[in-house]
Amino acid sequence: MLPLDVPSLSAASEWIERLKGEVGVFKVGLELFTAAGPAALARVHQSGADCFLDLKLHDIPKTMACAARTAADLGVRYLTLHASAGPRALATTAEAIRGTNTQLLAVSVLTSLDDSELDAVGLAGPVAEAVTRLARLAADAGIQGLVCSARECEPLRQALGPEPLLVVPGIRPTGSAPDDQRRVATPAEAVTWGADLLVVGRPIRDADDPARAARAIVHEIAQA
Ligand code: C5P
Repeated sequence: MLPLDVPSLSAASEWIERLKGEVGVFKVGLELFTAAGPAALARVHQSGADCFLDLKLHDIPKTMACAARTAADLGVRYLTLHASAGPRALATTAEAIRGTNTQLLAVSVLTSLDDSELDAVGLAGPVAEAVTRLARLAADAGIQGLVCSARECEPLRQALGPEPLLVVPGIRPTGSAPDDQRRVATPAEAVTWGADLLVVGRPIRDADDPARAARAIVHEIAQA
């Protein structure tokens, strides 16, 4: 899955054209969606790929449910929301998209937060415990998809079993720069630890030959 972390529809279009044969899912995040709105989703769909709308919803139940239903009606395959929005918001949102082709993915604790920041926002830590607690909350509300770091895959599989779809960013093939990511893993490590879908941005976008870099990652996943 490739994040289209770019500021305009034209820049996104260039990446879609360049990589549509290699990448099954394109991720539209806050930056591109703020710039281009549903046209970005339509552009992804036009390429034949699936669309991951990474808006990380966190609001009252009615607002989250209506936003999710609208995303589902636009054909979005994956949509993120914060598990910390609470059990009612999660359950209402899950109900709102029932019967559609959209899969909700819950974010537990952002990978940018550490124990002290978690404490500062008033959430009981440490991070590893909060991740499992919030993931369980999402699963109990009927949300069977989670965004997590590669290192959280094994504990989450132990806590929740094989069913949840685990979507993992922070992927770095051996030898590539970690950039601003803290807890990185190689594609093979992530898959071995239980990841189902990998989000890979800069290792592909910053490569001299992005299509080749994408193919190498797909090959590494297949080997693992
Ligand atoms: O370039 P890179 O491979 O680090 O991109 C990772 C993508 O995954 C970015 O779009 C980032 O916003 C997203 N992401 C993340 N960590 C999370 C959730 C999403 O890196 N916990």
